[in-house]
Amino acid sequence: MPTFTDDHFPTLGILGGGQLGRMLALAAIPMGVHVRLLSPKPAGPMRDVGEAIVADWNDPDVLRDFAAPCDAVTVESEWAPADRLLDAMPEAVVWPRPETINLIRHKGTQKEALRDAGLPMPSFERCTTVEEAISAANQFGFPALLKQFEGSYDGYGNATVRSEEDIRAAWSDLAAEDGLLVEAFAPFVRELAVLIARRPDGDSVTYPVAFTLQEDHRCKRVEVPATVSDSVWRKAQEVAREAVEVVNGVGITAVELFEMADGNVLVNELAPRPHNTGHYSIEGCVTSQFENHVRAVLGLPLASPELRDPVAVMTNVLGMREGLARPEGWREALGVPGAAVHIYGKPDVRPERKLGHVTVTGRDRASVRARAERAAEYLKL
Ligand SMILES: Nc1ncnc2c1ncn2[C@@H]1O[C@H](COP(=O)(O)OP(=O)(O)O)[C@@H](O)[C@H]1O
Ligand SMILES: [Mg+2]
Repeated sequence: MPTFTDDHFPTLGILGGGQLGRMLALAAIPMGVHVRLLSPKPAGPMRDVGEAIVADWNDPDVLRDFAAPCDAVTVESEWAPADRLLDAMPEAVVWPRPETINLIRHKGTQKEALRDAGLPMPSFERCTTVEEAISAANQFGFPALLKQFEGSYDGYGNATVRSEEDIRAAWSDLAAEDGLLVEAFAPFVRELAVLIARRPDGDSVTYPVAFTLQEDHRCKRVEVPATVSDSVWRKAQEVAREAVEVVNGVGITAVELFEMADGNVLVNELAPRPHNTGHYSIEGCVTSQFENHVRAVLGLPLASPELRDPVAVMTNVLGMREGLARPEGWREALGVPGAAVHIYGKPDVRPERKLGHVTVTGRDRASVRARAERAAEYLKL
């Protein structure tokens, strides 16, 4: 299973040059792994880490040149052309497999695969016409959610509908040729996330259950461990492991979950890569999600996902304006005791764009949370 012979230190290729690629590279380099990143346009985050290549990543020649020196190639995004790479270079070692990535990136195929495997989920239906959507929503009851099959993130691509008129209005925005997903509203008490790092041979480790606070469909803060009952904790980790097996996730697979009032845990969706809800693990865990992703895709031993401190809190730093990034509040944020400040190096700021995050770890949850929030509030990039 090792994808390379032990006569050299490996080279890892990363398709994508955003913050996830940057943090993957930053985890790989200390272990002695050489990193190459490929992005279709100049990307700030990848600039300082590894061999950063900008070229048309749909071009088979570009993909072959990129992957030729790599012992394994991974993706930082489900939109990266892993399938094209394998078309261009069938002998390339690519994890996760394009079948996994393609299955996950279409919410219809992803959710059907999970439901067929018996995983607990909100009711949903793939609808190809607006009439089907109306009938599905009537069956589930209002409010319901309409979800774009592909390309959604941070809540862009979802609509909460309360009537047939809402469905008609949202349909043209969200429906693709194959329609969209209609899903029952899940009155969850909390949103949770569990990350699994899994190797090609199936060996895996499970991260602690994280509580994820969303505002406006966007992840604002993550606290670990989630303060849930032992039974919810166990269910969340079990459901996550099963979901990852179903899709044959390799590397990190993130599992977003809903904790229901009756103690059930439902799967919301998966991501075939390191995830925003796992950024806390850089300082919070013995081994970060990024390091275990690198280890997994190279077939190396996985390492402990355990927490180093009793509590870790991660707060996202989002853009608040349009323009060039500037280090406003950066010095002050760096002065907050225990605050680990991560800035992604994006040259341009847009409202709500993810520009960085802050993690604080420690013993006392309230103090840890307060310091993470304070440092993040200083950062007006
Ligand atoms: N069925 C649902 N019931 C209630 N809230 C939901 C449901 N589906 C999604 N949401 C809310 O919207 C957020 C974003 O939805 P999600 O399907 O995860 O889309 P995205 O691709 O943008 O992450 C979720 O984190 C949750 O807060
Ligand atoms: Mg989501």
